[in-house]
Amino acid sequence: MAEDKEKKQDTRQALTRRDFLIRSNAGAVAIGVMSGTSFASTLVAEPQAGSTLAAPVKARRVTLDIDGTKEEVNVDVRESLWETMNYQMGLSNCNLGCDRAQCGACTIVVDGRAVNSCTVLSARYGRGQKILTVAGITSGPGLQGLHPLQRAFWFEGGFQCGICTRGFIMAAYPLLQSNKNPSTQEIKEALAGNICRCGEYSKILNAVKTAAAELRGEKVTYTAPWITDESNRPATAVAAANSISKQFQFVTALGTIEQFDDLSLELKQKPGIVDVSGTERTITPVWDPARLDEAAVRRILAEAGHPVRP
Ligand code: FES
Ligand code: FES
Repeated sequence: MAEDKEKKQDTRQALTRRDFLIRSNAGAVAIGVMSGTSFASTLVAEPQAGSTLAAPVKARRVTLDIDGTKEEVNVDVRESLWETMNYQMGLSNCNLGCDRAQCGACTIVVDGRAVNSCTVLSARYGRGQKILTVAGITSGPGLQGLHPLQRAFWFEGGFQCGICTRGFIMAAYPLLQSNKNPSTQEIKEALAGNICRCGEYSKILNAVKTAAAELRGEKVTYTAPWITDESNRPATAVAAANSISKQFQFVTALGTIEQFDDLSLELKQKPGIVDVSGTERTITPVWDPARLDEAAVRRILAEAGHPVRP
C-alpha cells in the first residue's frame, strides 16, 4: 500500500505546474492555428535550456485600429485593452472604474458593439476589429464637431463627477446607430451595464433622448445651452473667418487631455494661431494664412515639444 502511494506521488510530481502551463499554451496555439486564427505576428519565447517543450507564449504583436488610426504594439497576452490603450499607447479615452466588468466606465465600441475595455484582451484585437472610443465619434473641431450624444450630455448636465460619462456615451452610441427613436425602456436596456455613482440617471436618460432627436433631424433645445457673447469675442476669433484649419496627428500621443489644454493655451499665445482644438492624439490648429503657412504651424508644434506626423 505504502509503495503504491509513493508511486502515485511520483507520477503527480512528474507533471509540474510549469509543465502544465507550457502544455496548455502549446495547446492554445495549436487550437488557434486549427481554427484559422491569425495574429499580425506572434512572439514565442525561446525554449528553456534542456527542455524540448516550447516556453509559454507571453506576448503578441498586434495591430490595433483605434478611432481610425492603426498602430502596431507588443502586448502581454494577459493585458486588457484598457491597459494597452492607457499604459502603452498613451491614450486616455476611457475611464477605469471597477476593472472587473461591473460599472461600465471603460465602455468602448468594437465593431459596433459596446464592450468593457477592462475585461477584453488586447491580444485578441489585432484582426481588423474597429475600436471606437469617445474621442473617435467627433466629426471635427469645436462644439459643432461634437457628436450629438456628447453635446447632449454636456448641455443636459448628464454628469456630475464625470467618471462614468464616457462609458455612458459609448454604451448609448451603438443604440442610436441602429435606432434613432428608442423608447425609454430600450435606452435603459442599452445602458443597463453602466453605473453612475453620482446618480444622474434621469439627466443621462434625457441626454440620450435629446441626442436621438437631433440625430432624427429635429431641432433640439438644451436645458443649459452654450452661451455665446459675440461682443466679447477676441480679435483672433474674428479673424477666423478667413483662416485655415487642418487636423494633424501627434507623433507621440499626449498623456492626458489636461496636457492638451496646457498645450492649447501655449499655442494660442503664438502670433497667427487663431484657435486650437483636438484630443490626446490629434490637434487641429486654426491659423491666419496672412501670417503663417502649414510649415510654420508644424514648426510651432515641434518647438512646443509636440511634433506632428507628415
Ligand atoms: S472599469 Fe471596466 S466595467 Fe468597470
Ligand atoms: S457623474 Fe459621477 S459617476 Fe456618473
